[in-house]
Amino acid sequence: MTYIGTATSRVDGHAKVTGAAKYAAEPKAADLAHGSVVTSTIAKGRVARIDVSDALRVDGVIDVLTHTNRPRMADGDSGYKDDLAPDGSPFRPLYDDAILFDGQPVALVVANDLETAQFAASLVQVDYHEEPHVTDMQRQRDVESVLKAAAEPGSSPFAPPKPRGNAKAALAAAAVRHQGEYSVPIEHHNPIELYASTVMYEPDGKLTVYDKTQGVQNVQRYLCGALELAPGSVRVLSPFTGGAFGSGLRPQYQVVLAALAALALKRSVRVGLTRQQMYGLGYRPAMIQRIDLGAKADGTLEAISHDAVTVTSQYEHFYRQETGWSGLLYRCPNTTYAHRLAPLDLPSSCDMRAPSAATGVYALECAMDELAVALGLDPLDLRLRCYSDRDQIADRPYSSKNLRECYHRGAEAFGWDKRNPEPRSMRDGSELVGWGMATGVWEALQVPVAVRIVLTANGHAEVSCATSDIGTGTYTIMAQVSADMLGLPIENISVKLGDSTLPQSPVEGGSWIAASVANAIVTTSGVIRSELLNLAKKAPNSPLSDVEPDDVRLADGKIVGNKDPARAVSIADAMRQGGIDRIEREETTHFPKNEAHSHNTHSAVFAEVKVDEELGVIRVTRVVNAVAAGRILNTKTASSQILGGVVWGIGMALHEETLLDHTFGRVMNANIAEYHVPVNADIHDVEVIFVDEPDGTINRLGIKGLGEIGIVGVAAAIANAVHHATGKRVRDLPITLDKVF
Ligand code: MOS
Repeated sequence: MTYIGTATSRVDGHAKVTGAAKYAAEPKAADLAHGSVVTSTIAKGRVARIDVSDALRVDGVIDVLTHTNRPRMADGDSGYKDDLAPDGSPFRPLYDDAILFDGQPVALVVANDLETAQFAASLVQVDYHEEPHVTDMQRQRDVESVLKAAAEPGSSPFAPPKPRGNAKAALAAAAVRHQGEYSVPIEHHNPIELYASTVMYEPDGKLTVYDKTQGVQNVQRYLCGALELAPGSVRVLSPFTGGAFGSGLRPQYQVVLAALAALALKRSVRVGLTRQQMYGLGYRPAMIQRIDLGAKADGTLEAISHDAVTVTSQYEHFYRQETGWSGLLYRCPNTTYAHRLAPLDLPSSCDMRAPSAATGVYALECAMDELAVALGLDPLDLRLRCYSDRDQIADRPYSSKNLRECYHRGAEAFGWDKRNPEPRSMRDGSELVGWGMATGVWEALQVPVAVRIVLTANGHAEVSCATSDIGTGTYTIMAQVSADMLGLPIENISVKLGDSTLPQSPVEGGSWIAASVANAIVTTSGVIRSELLNLAKKAPNSPLSDVEPDDVRLADGKIVGNKDPARAVSIADAMRQGGIDRIEREETTHFPKNEAHSHNTHSAVFAEVKVDEELGVIRVTRVVNAVAAGRILNTKTASSQILGGVVWGIGMALHEETLLDHTFGRVMNANIAEYHVPVNADIHDVEVIFVDEPDGTINRLGIKGLGEIGIVGVAAAIANAVHHATGKRVRDLPITLDKVF
């Protein structure tokens, strides 16, 4: 294959760096009106009165929408259940007077230009009937009492796995035991592209919606349900998405407000959120996890107990399975898990890059490091002693698992064998040096996807699917796989995605799209290849007359026999034979449930920190992330995904934390000056290694999704390195200097 497996540059790169790629707040529309959102200043209660008279008096203001004058919306909950909605009652923007969280939209001011809308929004007066709110998870700091008091998460697919053996007895009898509580704060998404929707009001009353989303068809169905519109009257587009990574899985409220305003005014409307308003959307749930590990003196695990309490809203029960990773990763006969929810007067929590693994594996891998110290073992040696070739929960082998090679290659590249195990034993001038490591694990999921290919006689192909490219490189891998399967130069492939009218695709998330859409391209191009062979066979004295579909490939614009490449017919000749100049096919690819194997990706992360002994400043000076994720489709875009994951992991370990003022129930650092994310100066050497991991059964190309695996394990490796450098164990993220000294 010419393109699969290479470092192909992004096919959309030129459009992105020249500004030709248009994002959701950019499309031009005639007579476009601009909306500015007014948000609530209380966390719980009711709107008593909204006075919009001052706003309406401003020159250029067109209208102010509130729950009292908005167009019709669906009653009840069901119309608002998007594809990713958890149990509970979804938030309905501008539906009624109920206030569920601080920062909730209560009005939309629409004006001829953005500045006028924003100014007029500042003049809207809202009076409230305030009710007492709860936003403080720390009041639930005592895990024991929360586990007793809170509701079980129920029977969702994210409920903890079934326990195995008798963990309680095994823990009591263990030769060496480590117990610890680990906490992660609320973290907010800060993609570069702000949330925005441009709704074009078409002359026939239909809506064409440019939205920032990870799933155009999810938003399309949601808008039709929430606003009771006919399916054919809404089209949603998101050809480019400036980062999302979980925040765009569910529709955000600005798309509802923009659509409501367009319907009310019969005019095109754009609504964009400010950075501050984005802190009124979903977030990675704060959580407290308690891990209890019991081991034999030889460093093999006897028991794991993993309990988690995670934050959600009062109206939806969002959660993921934090605890199950502990029972999956290492060989251990006795496990037990508990998961409870802490409902607060905040928006619903949501997915954020490797949801549940970034956090659950953080706690597990810090606890494993502490266990290694208690056992007097090297942390990597402990992992190898507990290595499992089988999925411990489903009790079956993996289709492939080359974590061993990740440990080996990662340790070698890092120089792990030169580590002095003694904390505070390594120095560089005035800085203490610490080396830590951790394991990462994520799922290799696949979802049903449809792909349409239009191949023309001149050797060009258009390949389309309603999936999104959230910056991960989907355009590029779709072009690579299509070029190889159709035997054409990559320049002859044009990829269309991010349009709800294209062949069906679920949201782009869970690291499942690359594997799914790539194999869907294999399916559709296979049908086209058979069709071309049938045409080629019709020629008099056809060199392919006795060749079966599986015995030909498409290469260099020709249908070529696998056994005898001299037997070939050009695509143009085959089409001419059939009297056609194009072939169009659309196929849906399903991935049958594989009961024999589990599918996961793995990684080994090694981190070096340097901690200034006097100032306490922590720098992550080196990270090596060795990843096993099947065959890598594109070494360049895949590397970028892992690099991004490492950077985010550094943010999780040292920087990111949403701070609430519980008196007001309000986010106090709702901006990227005070909500810290890593900047260039925080990032030093990062090395990404992909190990070989042939997988003959997962799918025809042997590929697994990757992206999310890049963040998993990073925070733990850094936390473990900080302990090694300083002798101080910080179990509450982020590890800021005040916690270290
Ligand atoms: Mo995924 S949580 O959409 O990165």
